[in-house]
Amino acid sequence: MKKELSIGYELLTENELTEQEKALRLSAIKVAKKAYAPYSKFSVGVALLLENGEIITASNQENAAYPSGMCAERIALYYAGAKYPNTAVISLLLVAFNEKGQVSEISPCGACRQVFVETASRFKPFSLLLSGKDKLIRLKDCQDLLPFSFNKDSL
Ligand code: THU
Repeated sequence: MKKELSIGYELLTENELTEQEKALRLSAIKVAKKAYAPYSKFSVGVALLLENGEIITASNQENAAYPSGMCAERIALYYAGAKYPNTAVISLLLVAFNEKGQVSEISPCGACRQVFVETASRFKPFSLLLSGKDKLIRLKDCQDLLPFSFNKDSL
């Protein structure tokens, strides 16, 4: 039996963002400049909106022992979880800069996708905004980026 999976997403222009999403984008761009990324020189900024209206921002933090570094998405989500353990995430916006400027396309790594799935299962699915310079994508459900995920039902 052959089956197929497909995901729906929106390809947007900047003025199709809601005012709140525009604010997230500006916050993510601002925080990306504070990344500690001396090894990759790839600075990532994340802004996430919580159900209580608060915006949490984070940048990636690297380490000379490379695997000890941490992605911006997981720093933001874990900080949100530590500060507001009972508050849902509504949306998360991601931007990145390399030495030439804002990258044209950006997509979260696999480990961060795994954390998106866990966060969605604790609360509810949240939207993702992948804010590349040339490609601005909105996904309604962050879990769509990790089909066949390992999750609490897998244990
Ligand atoms: N990085 C993130 O912060 N988020 C991602 O989704 C992809 C990668 C960081 C990790 C590392 O500091 C640098 O970008 C290069 O991989």
